Amino acid sequence: MHPRERRIILKNVDTEGYTPDIDCYIKNGGYEQLKKAVKMQPADICAEVEKSGVRGRGGAGFPAGMKWKFLDRKSGKPIYLICNADESEPGTFKDRQIIHKDPHQLIEGMMIAAFAINASLAIIYIREEMPLGAKLLNKCIEEARAKNLVGENILGSGYSCNLIVHRGASAYICGEETGLINSIEGHRAYPRIKPPYFPAALGLYMCPTIVNNVETLCNVKHIVEMGGEAYAKLGTPGNTGTRIWSLSGHVKTPGYYEIECGKATYGDLINDFGGGMLPGRKLKALIPGGSSSKIIRGDERFKGKLKDGSPYDWSWEDVPLDFDSPMMVGSMSGSGAVIALDDSVDIVEALANLNAFYAHESCGQCTPCREGSLWMSRITRRMVSGAARTEDVDLLASIGDQIAGRTICAHGEACAWPTQSYVAKFRDEFLAAAARKERRSGAMRLV
Ligand SMILES: Cc1cc2nc3c(=O)[nH]c(=O)nc-3n(C[C@H](O)[C@H](O)[C@H](O)COP(=O)(O)O)c2cc1C
Ligand code: SF4
Repeated sequence: MHPRERRIILKNVDTEGYTPDIDCYIKNGGYEQLKKAVKMQPADICAEVEKSGVRGRGGAGFPAGMKWKFLDRKSGKPIYLICNADESEPGTFKDRQIIHKDPHQLIEGMMIAAFAINASLAIIYIREEMPLGAKLLNKCIEEARAKNLVGENILGSGYSCNLIVHRGASAYICGEETGLINSIEGHRAYPRIKPPYFPAALGLYMCPTIVNNVETLCNVKHIVEMGGEAYAKLGTPGNTGTRIWSLSGHVKTPGYYEIECGKATYGDLINDFGGGMLPGRKLKALIPGGSSSKIIRGDERFKGKLKDGSPYDWSWEDVPLDFDSPMMVGSMSGSGAVIALDDSVDIVEALANLNAFYAHESCGQCTPCREGSLWMSRITRRMVSGAARTEDVDLLASIGDQIAGRTICAHGEACAWPTQSYVAKFRDEFLAAAARKERRSGAMRLV
């Protein structure tokens, strides 16, 4: 563990002798918060979650307490809780640490959340590539059931809720909450249009449903333990708690780091937590929040005014690690996946690689996303292979512009933002690639 980390969710992860079973979890204080929660009023737990200000850790950063408030409790239909354990955004590898190394923490967080929203069934949707995680979760759920922590009349409270694991088949779009819901129902993971299909009103089987990320649901346990107000003191106003950042790319020590929100910067993450860039290399560009987030140049400066009116003049190194600050520099913290690209990276090739992924993962329902993602992929591929034309640079940018904001789900933005930002910020490299008439030597083979 890095000395500047503030480990709450990852407290037990990677500690010597800690094993992912119920005895070890209980020995370390596990399930005490569920015991406390079932003696509370469900509405009081919801109020604590709201007070905590905890924001979703899956990508959009939407406040969990507010989402729970939107739940249609008057419909008379069953209520469902779904944990999004799809972890599909490239660069993200935080949720799987919890699932593989401290699964009971997720189960406890989910059972508290389920009790608070009066869910009759809770489901963990886990991607295919995590077979060990699915197996482990199933084993742990049975351990919890044997101790009356899951299932009928939980801890004698009169509240009953089953918890099951549902394995996805690994399309990126299964991570989008309404696609995920369709997938559980046995359909193709086609995202649903919002409105009207906001899960809190019309979710699984058209019943009110809450979908939250793994890390978000783990936080619920800690909010019950410390109280919403105390939790809200962690981090900074509007950006409360800790966040787990997945750091990868050309740094010396890639890994996952849990840091109090806003108490470190991207510069700290890369130069201190990450040990700095690889020897002799410097940062060329930064992907601040998963592969779909807009790229930041290593030599860019960002000027503006903070909420209190004071001016800021930041480089990427000064941007605080939280939810709001990456947005102030035109990007986002997304799923908390930070990818550092050094000066050996060919930006056109990097985009071609991402575009191949996003074209492959479009579900095909919306024409701009289905066709546009494929066109962007083809154009960047021909730039890499020396078969492009100069006008392809503007064509590429205009396709991105015509996808974003015109689709059913945010995959439209996810595939457009890299193209829009890479071309705008590294135009010279795109022009040079478009003018090149031979394949770039050493270029990767793209699908
Ligand atoms: C294309 C796409 C992929 C997504 N993949 C994930 C994912 O793998 N895991 C996740 O938690 N959220 C993912 N999301 C966000 C979910 O739709 C949803 O907002 C999230 O699960 C809500 O949980 P939270 O409020 O706790 O963040 C994705 C969204 C989109 C548009
Ligand atoms: S934006 Fe793309 S992924 Fe989302 S529904 Fe439309 S075609 Fe499918």
